[in-house]
Amino acid sequence: MHISKLLLLLPALLASISDAHPLAPYRTFETISSAPRGWEISDESVDPSTPIKLRIHLAQQNVPQFEKALIDMSTPGHSSYGNHMSQSQIDDMLRPHEDTTTAVKDWLESKGFANDLSFKNDWIVVSTTLGQAESLLQTQYKVFRNSETGKKVVRTLSYSVPRNLHSSVALIQPTTLFGSTSAMKSTILRVEDPSVLKSISLSKSKLNGIDAACQSSITPDCLSSLYKYSDYKPTLAKNKLGVNGFLEQYAQNDDLSKFMKKYIPGANNVTFACTSINGGKCTQHPSEDFTEANLDIQYTVSASNPIPNIYYSTAGRPPVVDLDPNTNEPYLEWLEYMLKLSDEDMPQTITTSYGDNEHTVPQSYAIKVCNMIAQLGARGVSVLFSSGDSGPGDDCTSKDGKKRFVPTFPATCPYVTSVGGTVGVQPEKAVSFSSGGFSNYFSRPDYQNSAVSSYLSSQADATTFKNYYNASGRAFPDISAQGSRFHVFVGGYDQLVSGTSASSPAFAAVISLVNNYRISNGGQPLGFLNPWLYTIATEKKGIVDITSGTSRGCTGSILGAGWKATTGWDPVTGLGTPDFSVLQNL
Ligand SMILES: *[C@@H]1O[C@H](CO)[C@@H](O)[C@H](O)[C@H]1NC(C)=O
Ligand SMILES: *[C@@H]1O[C@H](CO)[C@@H](O)[C@H](O)[C@H]1NC(C)=O
Repeated sequence: MHISKLLLLLPALLASISDAHPLAPYRTFETISSAPRGWEISDESVDPSTPIKLRIHLAQQNVPQFEKALIDMSTPGHSSYGNHMSQSQIDDMLRPHEDTTTAVKDWLESKGFANDLSFKNDWIVVSTTLGQAESLLQTQYKVFRNSETGKKVVRTLSYSVPRNLHSSVALIQPTTLFGSTSAMKSTILRVEDPSVLKSISLSKSKLNGIDAACQSSITPDCLSSLYKYSDYKPTLAKNKLGVNGFLEQYAQNDDLSKFMKKYIPGANNVTFACTSINGGKCTQHPSEDFTEANLDIQYTVSASNPIPNIYYSTAGRPPVVDLDPNTNEPYLEWLEYMLKLSDEDMPQTITTSYGDNEHTVPQSYAIKVCNMIAQLGARGVSVLFSSGDSGPGDDCTSKDGKKRFVPTFPATCPYVTSVGGTVGVQPEKAVSFSSGGFSNYFSRPDYQNSAVSSYLSSQADATTFKNYYNASGRAFPDISAQGSRFHVFVGGYDQLVSGTSASSPAFAAVISLVNNYRISNGGQPLGFLNPWLYTIATEKKGIVDITSGTSRGCTGSILGAGWKATTGWDPVTGLGTPDFSVLQNL
């Protein structure tokens, strides 16, 4: 069924539904001030009898206790360090309280939905019609059109639930979430042909012991000598490295073998596994432009071989047709899939090179995704995301027209290790596009309190820009790695790809090697990295502080603003880049 057809056939029926239900003690549960970038409201109407499945996530219990347990098990020196949890322990701890479930169920039954409910772990699906959903949530759905793709979705900018249920409900979708074009943009900035390098002499000279050619473009050898893992030979321990793919990006075996042949001679026939989530494909179509997928897999495989690499291909484009929340939202689909994996199948390190402006995702949804990422951390998984490619922000204008820097989600989730970008080897500097700054959704976690408050109290930028960022927010990125001009085979040809999309797999590969070393020596995987990273960086061990270079962003207001990299944590390169030879022994 195509909404667009219905839209043409049916006249405006929505008007009759507005302004109803003045009696219920409802209160606005969530409002977004406008649709995310690219979405325009249209005056088309939609048949109120269109089926819709509302997914109501219930509030979990013991969230602060769970978060404390996660921090404790991730903090070196704590008595429970390394004591990761099983999913059933996590589920038992977080399961919504009986009273929560009952209260929401009573509400739905009182509205006549008793026969339309199905119960999952911590959510309830209500199978109903658009018209009835509007009445249930005291809202009015509208048709929004994406100006780029022409696709249409039915969403609302605000919805309500009874006052007494605000603490029982975590989020209800589809409502304010516009699907995968928000929060989900590949973090590739630029692709160039390597012929741009011809003018540069590729001498065999060395800079700081690194091949001088690494100053202008990056190969696997550049990363292994810069981050000091050339000498480490991973064993086939029980560890795996996961690479996330969304937006119909499929990693290609053909391009991987060409890449390996050229850059890692002797390591022929190396491959990766591909897992399909929610119908995501593992298509092999070497002639197509799968730049993001090829970049990610070529740099994880080349650094970590023979550690098994798994490409998780999650389907889910902007939700258009059937209003079924179960086929809509790639991050939730992906996380639900991952949390069901057995310990055996779970990768210990996962890299994701997608993200977008934090304010384009509803906060309730951001919190839900972040909580599920925290559960991966508690399972012993290190979850890395690229920080984004727009420095302090892209247009630097908030929804209400104010001049503001714009943080990136999921990089701002406190349980993500967010990876910024660097360039050059003598010295290694911040790269100008590296995104960083401060969340407006998540407050600053304790693990970064000292590093970030010392930045805020000592750096001129912190004062210069004080009206443009939220000093109490979670600061990002946490760490960084090279991000400019990576040689990548795409469609059979060597290309140069730039973006923090390169940085996250580069850093994740190093973490995977540390996990390999630990697990081969009978140890636990690192799990959630940040408390450990901030601890070792303070002790100046294993992380090389990047202290020069400046980010640039803000195409609209605050034109050309950017943060300077500096001694200690900064909002461009975080704590700095990895030194495997030291990390291995910590
Ligand atoms: C790679 O595969 C080909 C054909 O399957 C085989 O002939 C060759 O020996 C393999 N090379 C290595 C290094 O395993
Ligand atoms: C600043 O961040 C805090 C969370 O750290 C949040 O509660 C507050 O609303 C944010 N302020 C703005 C203006 O977004």
